[in-house]
Amino acid sequence: MVEVNLLVRYPRAKRNVKARLGNKAENRAIAMKFDKEYFDGTREQGYGGYSYDGRWVPIAEDILRHFNLKPGDRVLDVGCGKGFLVKDLMKVCPGLEVFGLDISEYAVMNCEPEVIGRVHLGNATHLPFPDNSFQAVLSINTAHNLDRAGCVQALQEMERLAPGKGYVQVDAYRNPAEKQIFLDWVLTARTYGTPQFWVDLLREAGYTGDYYWTILETDPE
Ligand SMILES: C[S@@+](CC[C@H](N)C(=O)[O-])C[C@H]1O[C@@H](n2cnc3c(N)ncnc32)[C@H](O)[C@@H]1O
Repeated sequence: MVEVNLLVRYPRAKRNVKARLGNKAENRAIAMKFDKEYFDGTREQGYGGYSYDGRWVPIAEDILRHFNLKPGDRVLDVGCGKGFLVKDLMKVCPGLEVFGLDISEYAVMNCEPEVIGRVHLGNATHLPFPDNSFQAVLSINTAHNLDRAGCVQALQEMERLAPGKGYVQVDAYRNPAEKQIFLDWVLTARTYGTPQFWVDLLREAGYTGDYYWTILETDPE
């Protein structure tokens, strides 16, 4: 189990934290449905428009290298949204068998054309695949959306499918200032804490894959 940032080449998001402070409870309830409003509604209720722009290509390259993946290997992206990373992993490694799973029917129904049939509706807590059937299982910014017990279950499922070959990235904060930014911005997370909180949870789940944190920053402008 190693701490490694496979999203080091992901562009930094601009976050106007103050804009999310109004109607927080209402917006949070809407966002947690993971429906159209969350993906393609306003920034107060989610992404504010979730469209493919190729930003996952460098991350896909880094994932390939990290897990030493080759054509014919199987990779699963848990919480894949519209399948942008699924698409880009296949783009950077033709012949790689990449699949995705997401709880959002809206995301699956509006996935990228290249991943139709590869992206399926489902819950991270019950991955409908045999033991040891993938060469890598990824879950980026998804596990924190489950409650604590669900998180443990999701991590155990990742471990079952690809023992020691997971990559999980979750929201975290390292100090009170980062915690406040997180609390002001967060819409969908149910489980969160410091990196040490997460390391303890990963251990409790028996997860032996790799991991990293999404630490929120405010918009510098
Ligand atoms: C912040 S988005 C991340 C999407 C993508 N991995 C990315 O990094 O761009 C969280 C995703 O997790 C999905 N999700 C939330 N709870 C889930 C669950 N229990 N099982 C599977 N997917 C879930 C949401 O529908 C959404 O697509």
